[in-house]
Amino acid sequence: MARLLVDKSPPLRGTVRISGSKNSVLPILAATLLAEEKSIIEEIPRLQDVSIMQALLESVGAKTYWNENTMEINVNTLTQYEAPYELVRQMRASFLIMGPLLARLGRTRIPLPGGCAIGSRPVDLHLKGFAALGAEITQERGYVQAKADKLIGAKVYLDFPSVGATENIMMAGVLAEGQTVIENAAVEPEVVDLANYLNAMGALIRGAGTDTIKIVGVPSLRGVTHSIIPDRIEAGTFMAAAAITGGDLYLENVLSIHLNPVIAKFKEANIQVEETENGLHIFSQGDIQGTDIKTLPYPGFPTDMQAQLMSLMSIAKGNSVITETIFENRFMHVAELNRMGADIKIEGRTAIINGVPILTGTQVRASDLRAGAALILAGLIAEGTTEIQDIYHIERGYDNIEEKLRKVGARIQRIDI
Ligand code: EPZ
Repeated sequence: MARLLVDKSPPLRGTVRISGSKNSVLPILAATLLAEEKSIIEEIPRLQDVSIMQALLESVGAKTYWNENTMEINVNTLTQYEAPYELVRQMRASFLIMGPLLARLGRTRIPLPGGCAIGSRPVDLHLKGFAALGAEITQERGYVQAKADKLIGAKVYLDFPSVGATENIMMAGVLAEGQTVIENAAVEPEVVDLANYLNAMGALIRGAGTDTIKIVGVPSLRGVTHSIIPDRIEAGTFMAAAAITGGDLYLENVLSIHLNPVIAKFKEANIQVEETENGLHIFSQGDIQGTDIKTLPYPGFPTDMQAQLMSLMSIAKGNSVITETIFENRFMHVAELNRMGADIKIEGRTAIINGVPILTGTQVRASDLRAGAALILAGLIAEGTTEIQDIYHIERGYDNIEEKLRKVGARIQRIDI
């Protein structure tokens, strides 16, 4: 098993290039199934999750070629409408191929993705959308099957602005007959990136980025080249690394407009942030001040940055209150941070953090992707060595995080036990 050893590190200084967005590339790779011609996707981050999605595309008949940060996907013949359990169980985002397969083949059979550490992660809103478009949905033996001779555009109201449901229904609607309207849609930048890719393929989508998305179905889509937007959560994670070590980092390949709620919180915490054309300069100038955070759908503060800010607030001056409104179980990093000397109490969906002067390194376990990132951040300023186990969670969603950190002065290394 691999582990990460993180020693107390000096203030991080230098430049980090942010990779393409994990949460954008996964739905866009699924969407390549909608065209009969080859698509070329650029700025692909090198992640375990992308490898799983690549295997998934191959399992239904796609031919893929991944070189550096570019992948070619050719889907002129789809041979299979069923996704293998072995792959779906490893990555929930596998469910995003359901919309494209249903739109292309008129039927699909996908294992229901299990929950994960952070919550039960139901897919009821995805299925509600497919049913509204005329699909016959059946569930048996842990699989969900959807069939429709022809999808017919319809109005779908999402009880919650689910990112995945918005993306899956959008992908089903682009080849449906007539107009589909998604109300209370998610407005995350990754939804907009997907809509931009689909429109480049010939889809007719309007309103992506607002809570009402209108899609007029077209007969077919063509393959195109598309470049993935930068990963706003990776950028936020490196912002936290600069802040927690009292460092000074320049982040290249950042669309700072996607980070407004995160930038606002760093400034409240007395961290300086300067936005440039294609990047972001972040540096500290004195004590980190405690501040309150409440996670919300975009453009609110992103749940995927909650754990990282928890680490930062654990050594801030004063108290902080963090409320997690998106997932029901996304505080598993709290117990690990408290083992490092943090002073955090959980009351339901709220964590109360009393800032402490120091943390101390020890063995800790990553429970999920962003909790793992939070433990790396804590390890950078903890006295001694922090040994992080179960780092496969981190490798799923961060493109070579330890090398990027080492280049700006972090004392971090990966060891194989
Ligand atoms: C996406 O997950 C992201 N993953 C998550 O990032 C992110 O945390 C989440 O959006 C929220 O921003 C990808 O894009 C691959 P949701 P998704 O559907 O689509 C409930 C990371 O760390 N819900 O917006 O699964 C659900 O239970 C990951 O990079 C339903 O009730 O999120 C949750 O409470 C973690 N029914 C809330 O909505 C449904 O049918 C948000 O889920 C679907 C969702």
